[in-house]
Amino acid sequence: MKADVIIVGSGAAGLTAALALAETLKVLVLAKGALGTGSTAWAQGGIAAVLDESDTFEDHIRDTMIAGAGLNRLETVEFVVERAPQAIARLAALGVPFDMREGSGGNALHLTREGGHSHRRIAHVHDATGLAVQEALLEAARAHPNITMLAHQACIDLITGRHELRYSGSGRVWGVYALDEATGHVEAHCAHVTVLASGGAGRVYQFSTAPRGATGDGIAMAWRAGARVANMEMMQFHPTCLYNLETKNFLITEAVRGEGGHLVIPPGHPGAGHRFMPDFDPRGELAPRDIVARAIDHEIKRLGLDYVHLDISHKPPEFVRGHFPTIHERLLALGIDMTKEPIPVVPAQHYTCGGIIIDLAGRTDLPGLYAVGECTESGLHGANRLASNSLLECFVFGEAAACDILDCWDSYEAPPPVLAWDASRVTSSDEEVIIKQNWTEIRRFMWNYVGIVRTTKRLERAQHRIAMLAGEVEEYYGQFRVTTDLIELRNLLQSADLIVRSALKRHESRGLHYTLDYPATLPEARDTVLEP
Ligand code: FAD
Ligand code: SIN
Repeated sequence: MKADVIIVGSGAAGLTAALALAETLKVLVLAKGALGTGSTAWAQGGIAAVLDESDTFEDHIRDTMIAGAGLNRLETVEFVVERAPQAIARLAALGVPFDMREGSGGNALHLTREGGHSHRRIAHVHDATGLAVQEALLEAARAHPNITMLAHQACIDLITGRHELRYSGSGRVWGVYALDEATGHVEAHCAHVTVLASGGAGRVYQFSTAPRGATGDGIAMAWRAGARVANMEMMQFHPTCLYNLETKNFLITEAVRGEGGHLVIPPGHPGAGHRFMPDFDPRGELAPRDIVARAIDHEIKRLGLDYVHLDISHKPPEFVRGHFPTIHERLLALGIDMTKEPIPVVPAQHYTCGGIIIDLAGRTDLPGLYAVGECTESGLHGANRLASNSLLECFVFGEAAACDILDCWDSYEAPPPVLAWDASRVTSSDEEVIIKQNWTEIRRFMWNYVGIVRTTKRLERAQHRIAMLAGEVEEYYGQFRVTTDLIELRNLLQSADLIVRSALKRHESRGLHYTLDYPATLPEARDTVLEP
């Protein structure tokens, strides 16, 4: 397939870039599984932007830096925050039906509030913002003659100078090898420029709000090709994931707390009914996520609980149903009426703050390779992402990368002939059980040893297991035909390795990285940068 630019990922970041590029260039979008099955469609709360007269860019910047515990890059924070209102305007123009403020005559957006925000600042579509955004972007991309979207293409590795027919060995990126999930064939897709927009690595943990495909593929591919990654220890845990034995990863949006929900100790335990967050932070339930998640974890461990309660039943039923129709319906189907009773919740992995290092134009270390969205470390989130700043990052950097590619287009050469994928020495696997076993093992030790509260000893235990599994997985990868499960397992293990190595390098507690061995925060905030 002849394309000028290849984009890996059809979520908010990938499609924003695709739409901005397609006015001039031919774009090929590749996605693992069906289109729109990344995190974007699952986003609930909304998109942060200064849209109210009483709010200011300075306040949004300050809130982002406070949540990020000073590890953020100020230049990036300013860059993103200042472009947020335009990003919302572009989405509205694409047809995203944002909720409007009652009595505004359709002229002002309804803005909700989430943890760490000093103002109401979150533009949203009820409690299912991501789905509305994903649908609008997909509809626009489908209608564009210069965009081709191919679903069920699991990208395996970047094509670089090492794969040129006339070997150059350079780090220049020319595209990707991708498994066609329908045929089982691996194709080399080449272009002048490649953009990774492949989302996070949340599924490296046993409990995560992220979809099945969040296995850190783009981060692992970039790392293997020679790009630096940073701050991988900063894995964000969302405080309120539904506790339910059947439905393991359903998020209860932070906006429930933003609209007045309280966190309380469930019945049958000392202090039952006690609203505990004010004991931990004067901002109560609206403290930044790392603080709320740690407080819940503390109460769960202290009292031996399975979960804590999130209660918004003191608000009028029509208010609750009106603001949270999707969550209300979903919970009703599970026998919980949130207008009358509390919701059992636990923290779960939610967002990958670190990733492939990029600059303000989305450029990575490797010539010809850009990266945007959750797979990146742009400097926006620092040690802890402020709620609803992630979709925003996708829109701002998707656009910025596209602008840079267009500006520099004349300097990008056409790809040279490259080697075809060599499957001559592999056979079909006769031991699929190894994949399942290793998946489960990784996710379990990452949860138990590299979770909300860490110690050096536990991190070293995890590192030891990663080293043992690495040999096994590489041997398996070298012997058998690739499948999506195998590609994901390899990337999951690579992501786990990057997280643990980064966590071991940080000798302090900051933001999401909290270790009993180094409880203090060092005076100077420094990125954890890993070099291949
Ligand atoms: P994604 O939307 O995850 O898309 C990744 C794409 O890459 C997919 O198309 C996938 O198929 C593709 N891909 C991955 N690997 C491969 C491969 N090997 N080959 C080919 N394609 C591949 N953020 C907010 O700002 N506000 C919110 O309210 C909010 N709510 C959230 C709720 C939930 C439950 C979750 C999980 C996240 C939420 N977030 C929210 C975070 C936000 O949704 C994500 O960070 C954001 O959508 C990431 O977008 P993305 O385009 O980078 O990646
Ligand atoms: C939520 O709705 O609580 C998620 C918001 C986010 O992850 O930014």
